[in-house]
Amino acid sequence: MGERIALVTGGNKGIGFEVVRGLGAAGVTVYLGARQAALGDAATAQLRAEGHDVRFVHLDVTAANDIARAAVLMQRQHGRLDILVNNAAIGLDFTSPSLVTMESMRSIFETNTFAPVAMINALLPLLRNSTAGRIVNVSSDFGSLTLNTTPKMPHRKAISLAYPSSKAALNMITVQFAKELRESPIRINAVDPGFTDTDMTSAMGNATRSAAQAAVAIVRLALAGDDCPHGTYGNEDGPLPW
Ligand SMILES: NC(=O)c1ccc[n+]([C@@H]2O[C@H](COP(=O)([O-])OP(=O)(O)OC[C@H]3O[C@@H](n4cnc5c(N)ncnc54)[C@H](OP(=O)(O)O)[C@@H]3O)[C@@H](O)[C@H]2O)c1
Repeated sequence: MGERIALVTGGNKGIGFEVVRGLGAAGVTVYLGARQAALGDAATAQLRAEGHDVRFVHLDVTAANDIARAAVLMQRQHGRLDILVNNAAIGLDFTSPSLVTMESMRSIFETNTFAPVAMINALLPLLRNSTAGRIVNVSSDFGSLTLNTTPKMPHRKAISLAYPSSKAALNMITVQFAKELRESPIRINAVDPGFTDTDMTSAMGNATRSAAQAAVAIVRLALAGDDCPHGTYGNEDGPLPW
């Protein structure tokens, strides 16, 4: 394939920023999606100064208009999309299930679960125009039912409702799209980037993994060739239990 075109949501900081950088370093033209224009512009300028072909696209993933505009932009500029990384997410907290508010539940699911579906469906026509479309849903090991119920795993002790269930649902969404797309050249997978030092985890204070390291498994799947897996859930070490 010649020039590849990618779109990464939540690209202005953290793991998403490093995914944009990693794809840019591989020669991909990357649209850096961000909901705050000033932050998106600054991140784009930084990566362009490093020599990567990065372009800012204003994209609040919970805004249907922004998603539609991004799809039109891709259509007009390139007529296709090769790589979609659904990275944007919110809401990692440890509110007990009995204390969670419906407001926070809804907003976390809007961003982490419903938005990836809206993104995929808006961009699927363009991904179908690629010879090898790739969709990477950035999930979490917190979304694993098995890890949350296995006595020796740390997830068993950490009680949280909205974020883990939003990622468990994202895993199922990945599975169902994978079934529908099985006969197409599009490959879709869910990836856990690992417990990483970003703004999302800063309050916890004990994440040491760098965002650059976390981005590696995501970038690898986004760039995978004919041997790309399909409908999997894993991290850099291999498959995770659902
Ligand atoms: N860090 C970890 O340990 C860890 C572990 C497992 C999975 N993950 C997953 O990795 C991904 C990246 O997380 P991170 O640690 O890099 O978090 P982060 O530093 O908090 O970055 C989150 C990104 O998502 C963006 N975002 C949030 N809501 C958005 C919306 N409505 N529209 C567009 N962008 C939005 C944020 O934009 P603003 O700057 O505007 O807020 C930011 O760019 C997430 O899917 C997360 O669940 C992280």
